[in-house]
Amino acid sequence: MPVQVYFIGAGPGDVELLTIKGKRIIEQADVIIYADSLVNPEICSLAKQGAEIYGSAKLCLEEITEIILHSVAQGKVIARIHSGDPAIFGALLEQMAILENSGISYEVVPGVSSVFAAAAALQAELTAPDISQTVIISRITGRTKVPRTEKLSDLASHQATLVLFLSVTMIEEVVRELISGGYSEDTPTAVVYKASWKDEIIVRSTLKEVAEKVRAYRIQNQALILVGKALDPQLKAQGSTRSKLYER
Ligand SMILES: C[S@@+](CC[C@H](N)C(=O)[O-])C[C@H]1O[C@@H](n2cnc3c(N)ncnc32)[C@H](O)[C@@H]1O
Repeated sequence: MPVQVYFIGAGPGDVELLTIKGKRIIEQADVIIYADSLVNPEICSLAKQGAEIYGSAKLCLEEITEIILHSVAQGKVIARIHSGDPAIFGALLEQMAILENSGISYEVVPGVSSVFAAAAALQAELTAPDISQTVIISRITGRTKVPRTEKLSDLASHQATLVLFLSVTMIEEVVRELISGGYSEDTPTAVVYKASWKDEIIVRSTLKEVAEKVRAYRIQNQALILVGKALDPQLKAQGSTRSKLYER
């Protein structure tokens, strides 16, 4: 059966970070539903003439589903565009479940997650040799609850590189939990607001001081908190870490 719905990762903001495959599908789609709170609206200018375009920020799941089911019934192809990569905090699972239960064929097209745009902005390798070989992607508990086994203070015990989505509004609590869990107060920390956008902001700090610095910038959303020794810019100056990848 030909694909009726494409879930497409739009990337973190910079339109040039959309994949070639995502671009082709958006250009051909009859209906576009995009996460207008995070996805760069310039992406919509790729749509063909006459394509229907919906922003999903103000729609609930049932309303989105209705648009999809109605369009599929008319034989239309839908591009459902998510920010970053749809597999990370993308509310993807419930949409795929509805399509499977309705017998609708779909494909997921990956995108560049904001975690990688933030790493690029920081010019950091998240898996720095001899420092950390593990990246933990998580969030502080909010409207969506985090399982008890994944409490920030427990994740902190690994001292790995940690990337927190959807947490910047609770940064004081984040800092408290991470320090109580084992990160030292001077752990290199960064907050990246709107990674890859023209108005991107990078706040570098120690873990202890990051909350105050972030408050000064009034950053409330669209930001990631990155914590760990791998973020230390001095690692490059020292030139002391090296992977085995290119070793003779
Ligand atoms: C609903 S989640 C979607 C994440 C997305 N699927 C991804 O892979 O980047 C939204 C959260 O992702 C983060 N985010 C999304 N785009 C961002 C960007 N360009 N810069 C920094 N953080 C971003 C923020 O934490 C934001 O609150």
